[in-house]
Amino acid sequence: PVVEVDGVKWPLPFIQHLVPGGNILEHLDMIKNMAIQDDDIMLCTYPKSGTHWIWEIVSMLLKGKAEYEKKVKETAMLEFGSKDELKSIRSPRIFNTHLPVRMLPREITEKKKKIIHVQRNPKDVVVSLYNHIKAAMLGGDRSSSATMGTFSDMFPLLVSGGINNQWHVYVEELEKFTIDNPDYPILTLNYEDMKEDPKREIIKVANFLGIHYTPELIDDVQDKCDFENLKKANEDIKDDITKKLSKDGKQFMYRKGQVGDWKNWFTVAQNEEFDQLYIEWMSGSNLKFRFTL
Ligand code: A3P
Repeated sequence: PVVEVDGVKWPLPFIQHLVPGGNILEHLDMIKNMAIQDDDIMLCTYPKSGTHWIWEIVSMLLKGKAEYEKKVKETAMLEFGSKDELKSIRSPRIFNTHLPVRMLPREITEKKKKIIHVQRNPKDVVVSLYNHIKAAMLGGDRSSSATMGTFSDMFPLLVSGGINNQWHVYVEELEKFTIDNPDYPILTLNYEDMKEDPKREIIKVANFLGIHYTPELIDDVQDKCDFENLKKANEDIKDDITKKLSKDGKQFMYRKGQVGDWKNWFTVAQNEEFDQLYIEWMSGSNLKFRFTL
């Protein structure tokens, strides 16, 4: 049940049901034409690349306070918000989306609004995506009829058959956009770099956004956005959608938060197959990804 629109395969099978109004084409049209405000910021990510993490970091930096809120990033996600909901978000609006850059609101690029792009190595993306879909499919009111294969059952579909084969298209489109628009205010971060040295990457974000910060603020943001702390806040405080989607009412958005978990899932043969695909995908790209730290 993967939906394809304008060459984009939507990687979450149930996304059609989540689009306000249920009509993806109308919703995409609304997004393309929505009015953008001066202080809007756009976070662009391929699914499972650290969207929640960067949204929390940017929210805290802009507030100048490292504190948790009930509100989650889905409240400002282009795919899920109706026109009125997106319009009514208090500014600065930290929009986020998995849409490719060509499908962003026209005014974002016309008015050169800041874009932060977080990318992650595709092996960990595949594993994270598999676990997300599995938890979502087996939970909620689909539990009676849904079945879900093992990682190996799903592997062909995950890497090339439809669910995840837009990863390289997505990152390469943003790479090209950055090269073609050298003056565009876009910051690209790698999930692996954020894991390696979160403080360094948070400072990069703060500088990019032009925020006046104290060393204490950076330390606090780092601490509050640390995986375990954010996971706990998501369980205890935050209004996370996965609590409603899961079988047991527990959140599954924050799963493991590591670089290299794919090694626990890929067989040697799958890894070889993936490496071959990866070489083909990236033949025209200068992007480099780290699969371990
Ligand atoms: P895993 O499934 O590998 O754990 P997204 O927000 O784009 O859906 O990405 C979700 C992935 O980011 C999940 O990966 C999640 O655990 C991870 N993640 C979320 N917050 C994180 C944090 N503070 N540090 C590291 N990883 C984080």
